[in-house]
Amino acid sequence: MNARTTRSLAALSLTAALAISGCSSDSGEGSGAAGAALSVSGAFMPEPVNDKMAGAFMVIKNGSRTADKLTGVTSPLSDDLQIHETKDQKMRQVPSLDVPANGELKLARGGDHLMFMGLKNTPKVGDKVTVELRFEKSGPVKVELDVKERTYTAQAPTSTGGNAH
Ligand code: CU
Repeated sequence: MNARTTRSLAALSLTAALAISGCSSDSGEGSGAAGAALSVSGAFMPEPVNDKMAGAFMVIKNGSRTADKLTGVTSPLSDDLQIHETKDQKMRQVPSLDVPANGELKLARGGDHLMFMGLKNTPKVGDKVTVELRFEKSGPVKVELDVKERTYTAQAPTSTGGNAH
């Protein structure tokens, strides 16, 4: 594990060096077909207690070499759907969240999440809520949130099992 530590330290200083040397090394690769690079899984909303607010969670995967940002969210359920992060156990609204290249943005309890402020109705377990995610580079992505029990937490993302049908 020593070798591994050394390796990641080396990688870190390499990254720092690149950052210092400027942004001109960004390749133009992949600028054309950015549309299909993002995929969303495990999207859900815990059943709201009332029509005041509700959270929403999911994993947004970026399969491309281009980093992107979640910059906005809309839904028929609310006119005020916000992007929140949690820092020091307090949440606050942020203008965007990073979706790293070949990585993922996890929206989960206790971390980054979407928050509906003011609901037009109160969805129940089994309902679906549509949201549209907007990104800095990729086109908008429509997602259906499954309304789940309040205690529900997302299962391990890779264990999708074949028993859905
Ligand atoms: Cu919040």
